Amino acid sequence: MWFGKRLGERVQIVQKLIINGPCGVKGETYIQGAKNSVLPILAATILVKGESIIKNCPDILDVHTSLEILNYLGCKTNFTNFTITVNSENISKHDIPEFLMRKMRSSIIFLGALISRTGHAKLTLPGGCELGPRPIDMHISSLRQLGVFIEESHGEINCKIKRKLVGTNITLTFPSVGTTENIMLAAASCAGQTIINNAAREPEIVDLAAFMNKLGAKIYGAGGNQIIIDGSQKFTQTEHTIIPDRIVATTLMATAAATGSSIILKKIDPSLLYSSISIFEEAGCYIQIIDKNILKITSPEKLQSVKKIRTMPYPGFPTDNQAPVMAMLATAYGTSIFVETIFESRFKHICELSRLGAKIKTEGNVAIVEGTSKLSGANVKATDLRGAAALLVAGLAAEGQTTISDLEHFLRGYEWNKIQPILSSNVKYL
Ligand code: UD1
Repeated sequence: MWFGKRLGERVQIVQKLIINGPCGVKGETYIQGAKNSVLPILAATILVKGESIIKNCPDILDVHTSLEILNYLGCKTNFTNFTITVNSENISKHDIPEFLMRKMRSSIIFLGALISRTGHAKLTLPGGCELGPRPIDMHISSLRQLGVFIEESHGEINCKIKRKLVGTNITLTFPSVGTTENIMLAAASCAGQTIINNAAREPEIVDLAAFMNKLGAKIYGAGGNQIIIDGSQKFTQTEHTIIPDRIVATTLMATAAATGSSIILKKIDPSLLYSSISIFEEAGCYIQIIDKNILKITSPEKLQSVKKIRTMPYPGFPTDNQAPVMAMLATAYGTSIFVETIFESRFKHICELSRLGAKIKTEGNVAIVEGTSKLSGANVKATDLRGAAALLVAGLAAEGQTTISDLEHFLRGYEWNKIQPILSSNVKYL
């Protein structure tokens, strides 16, 4: 079984989830560390010629892929009890093989980190979820502005520093998360100052900056739309704890909301959940923040529709929450509208939700969800990470048996051992 196993042990991926619904969720669980924080932070560990200790790491497939990349580059890694130790004393390579690049989109973050550490990087185009075209033009043009010489041919990206990296003023046409991170990683060892205008403001950018500053980088303004990086060459080993995963928290809240249940989520950061909490409240759920890092959600038997949900860069409603929240509103009273503004093809889950009886129409980037009185179990296939989460939410609410296949998409970002405690024995995996 994959679930709960650590690196180095024999891994067998769970392929299918069988749900005999409807089945509510109950009890309490802990929220895992944020996938979108830990991945760039693992890439950033190669900046230092020494050891980084990263705590609260989620045991998910994408983290294992990052460790495979780090090991390939020459680092020594250990993953025990949610703590990863990376020793980057010796980096012997500056390329990443295609099979590793294809496993996840965030492998592109190694571009900035490798440039910073070795002055070279040879990568192929990244893979990851199929959400429509996911170009890397902003990553490339930003690195060029810092003085990186980049050749692209036959799907390969070859980068090297000709003279030296020099800080500059970069204005992004869109606040891209990955581009902001790549600039931060490359600019950390530039000569002089780099200013990123229209930077992404996601909490995971703030976490990356916090880690890099502990290493010795000089990054100011993360979390705002202008980030200033004063180049530095002196990085020292450090320790860091990953922030809680706000997308996983929202997904689990959606399982409770869709099934009229109540659960308690521990180790959350409520300040990262405002845009979600207001949607759940509009749908009729009662949210209590107990202490400062525990959330209780209590849901009505039937949800109300939510007028309009527009995905936006942070602090707006995250595109990653669109699919699970759409699944939750499939059985609400009335019609909910979703406008997806970040990714072109982030509606692939809708076909599969329709198999479960959801009534959802799309027009371009708009999805119109007409709440139906009940969903009914069926065989469905996960198409991408958050689409898989949507199928779990809908499958729990549906009457009869739902089988979700291609579950490895789900395991790229969700730690099963932290989800299982709230599920009933009517949910089984094969
Ligand atoms: C990150 C998150 C992902 C989230 C997304 C948006 C990680 C590991 N992944 O992905 O979960 O859904 O932010 O919040 O943190 N774009 C370009 N050219 C580029 C770069 C991006 O056109 O060079 C476009 C993308 O196609 C997309 C938009 O910009 O339409 C946002 O992408 P970006 O913010 O870069 O997302 P990722 O960093 O890939």
